Amino acid sequence: MMDSAMIDRLETTFKMLAPRGPELTDRFYAHMFSRNPSLRPLFPTSLADQKKKLLASLVLVVQNLRTPEKLQDPLKEMGARHVGYGTKAEHYPIVRDTLISVMADMAGDAWTDQYAADWSAALDVVASIMLTGAEEAMEAQEGKTTDAATA
Ligand code: HEM
Repeated sequence: MMDSAMIDRLETTFKMLAPRGPELTDRFYAHMFSRNPSLRPLFPTSLADQKKKLLASLVLVVQNLRTPEKLQDPLKEMGARHVGYGTKAEHYPIVRDTLISVMADMAGDAWTDQYAADWSAALDVVASIMLTGAEEAMEAQEGKTTDAATA
C-alpha cells in the first residue's frame, strides 16, 4: 500500500516541516476552527497540550512507516479514546484536508501534488486504523450493555 518511494516522500516532507512543529499545529487548529467552528467545543479551552500531542502522534506515525505493525495498537487505542471526545468518522477527512492544506502553505514552492496525494493516502490509513479501534471499543461497550440487560 505504501511503497518505499512514497515513504521516502512522506519522510522528506515531514523532515522539512517538523522543525516548525509549533507553527504547524498553531496553523492547523486556527485553520480547522475557522472553517469548522462547530468542532471547537469538542476541544479543551487551552490547546497548548493538544498541539504537542498532535505533533507527537504525527512523529510516531512518520517514524514507523516502515514498521506499520507497530502503529496498529497505538492508533487503535487512540481511535477508541476519540469516541469519548465526540469524534465522528466524517471528521477525519476534515483533519486530513486541514493538515495537508497547512503543510502545503508552509512548504510553499517545495510542495507538490504528489506530496498532497501521499499525505492524503497516509492520513486515510491512519484514520481507518483509528476508526477500527473506535468500532471495536463501541462493540465492546455494547456487549457490556447487553450483558447487563440480560444478567
Ligand atoms: C489523523 C487523525 C488524528 C490524530 C493523529 C489525532 C491525534 C490526537 C491526539 C494524539 C490526541 C491526544 C489525546 C489522545 O491521544 O487520546 C487527540 C485528542 C483529541 N482529538 Fe484527535 N486526532 C486525530 C483526529 C481527530 C479528529 C478527526 C477529531 C474530530 C474533531 C479529533 C478531535 C480530538 C479531540 C476533541 C481531542 C481531545 C481533547 C481533550 O479533550 O483533551 N481528533 N487527538
